[in-house]
Amino acid sequence: MELIAYKKAEELNDNSIPVISPEWRLKRIGERTILWFYEVEESRYLNIPPLLASILPLFDGKRSFADVKKIIQYTYGVNTDDANKMLAEVITGINSDNKCVVEMNETLEDYIVDYNVEEFIVSPEGFTPKGRLPIPLSIGILFSNDCQTNCLYCYAERRKVPAREHMSIKRWKEIFHEARNLGIEQVTISGGDPLFHKNSIDLLEELIKLKMLFLVSTKCHVTKEKAARLKAIGMADPINQITREIQFSLDGPNSLIADTMAGVPGFYEKAIDSIKNLKENGLKFRVKAVVTPFNADYIEDWLYQMVDLGADKLACAAYGRSFYRHKDEYFLGPEETNMLRDVFDRFEEKHPEVDLILTSFDAPTLTEEGEAKPKVKRDDKKAFEDRITKKKESWESRSHCSGGTSSMTITPDGRVILCDQVPQEGEFVVGDLSEQSIMEVWNSEEIKRFTDPPVEKFVDTVCYSCGDFDSCHKEYGYCFRDSYFNYGTIYAPPPNCPLAPDDGFRIN
Ligand SMILES: C[S@@+](CC[C@H](N)C(=O)[O-])C[C@H]1O[C@@H](n2cnc3c(N)ncnc32)[C@H](O)[C@@H]1O
Ligand code: SF4
Ligand code: SF4
Repeated sequence: MELIAYKKAEELNDNSIPVISPEWRLKRIGERTILWFYEVEESRYLNIPPLLASILPLFDGKRSFADVKKIIQYTYGVNTDDANKMLAEVITGINSDNKCVVEMNETLEDYIVDYNVEEFIVSPEGFTPKGRLPIPLSIGILFSNDCQTNCLYCYAERRKVPAREHMSIKRWKEIFHEARNLGIEQVTISGGDPLFHKNSIDLLEELIKLKMLFLVSTKCHVTKEKAARLKAIGMADPINQITREIQFSLDGPNSLIADTMAGVPGFYEKAIDSIKNLKENGLKFRVKAVVTPFNADYIEDWLYQMVDLGADKLACAAYGRSFYRHKDEYFLGPEETNMLRDVFDRFEEKHPEVDLILTSFDAPTLTEEGEAKPKVKRDDKKAFEDRITKKKESWESRSHCSGGTSSMTITPDGRVILCDQVPQEGEFVVGDLSEQSIMEVWNSEEIKRFTDPPVEKFVDTVCYSCGDFDSCHKEYGYCFRDSYFNYGTIYAPPPNCPLAPDDGFRIN
């Protein structure tokens, strides 16, 4: 697909034909309109105000700007100049960081969605500009908390759920149908290991029948038979311009490294066989490595080995702290990070055709103890202020937490949590889908503990008297995982807040 986004007002020529990029979907969710990034993994979206929501569906790949302008003039009773201004504001605003409205061309023809303008006219009374969505946009699914492997660094809690307590296949399928009927089009499948579940492929088949987008991440052996089955259920068939993906995780180019990191002997051989089987069956896959000091020196060999096996998409993520199996020695040091950046640069130069996704390889600033806490003392006023200014900047552009605001995660026995890294018990459980419906859980008091927490709960923290309390919790969603991991309670600021008492633990 060729995507040429309008970025400047001068580019909006009367004859040019605008269209909503097929990478973005306009969606009505209750009294809200959003533009959703149509993708297998991420669930990113932009809130669209009502006026813009009534204009965007006019960009249908058939009408020119001149046509759209006439409609705007007629509908809103404005003159040509004002219609021009409205259009320029709408498009440059929405395209400032994204490519949402693009110039129509023939490569887009098969993927254009025909939107009905009326569907996006929301009542001003019920309209809420920000904050949690009235219906989840995506749901996380953990079919299984068990794995064939036992990775040293694993961030997942992997609570033991006896097989007799697992939700039935029938119940999982009912949940999928409920999700689809609610307009949910994307699920995130993680674990434990999803393919460890003996009926996982049947469950994936149901999701495919329902036209759901997803990525399945696994370290289970994908045998020839399994790969053929995945192909047979339609894993390789595109839905619009998107093909669902399998992420196969393998952390090194030999059995010493890969088996040690996966915690089981024989993993490497099975991993290589799995990759070959995925390739032979024409399945779309990426191979991912988690990088620690143990495998850092082997990542270069790993990258080239994966290319030789036919991988055209690779991912590397620096080890990140978790609550369950953390050891400081798993963190990359600055020298290793710098060495790896050179490795990645060289690789990208040699293999521009390979899509390489890198996560958390920014060089960390560390204290002598290896923690990411500030060296700066409060009595060094200038340095202290600089640090707070920096923190403020990154806080303003922080990513918003989707847990409870646009998604929730279902565990193997139906317990619902809001993030796949938090414990699956106690106050973190917000519902039970073995008995409740998705919307019962989404509208429950339990979920409000996270999305609309009472300020009194924060009484001994800076949040209690913070003027941003409502926007921070209700609009953005705060990272309660980080609050809990650092301070032992969800009712505290996450350490990346500039007002937090310290910078917290090192995360990456
Ligand atoms: C938790 S696993 C679940 C899916 C599946 N079991 C797997 O390993 O692919 C999802 C992904 O997170 C990665 N991962 C696990 N623990 C991590 C950590 N502490 N830091 C960074 N990535 C981690 C895994 O390697 C895997 O790619
Ligand atoms: S990283 Fe994946 S495969 Fe490894 S133990 Fe964790 S959940 Fe299981
Ligand atoms: S986390 Fe920070 S910004 Fe948010 S309410 Fe607490 S003190 Fe205010």
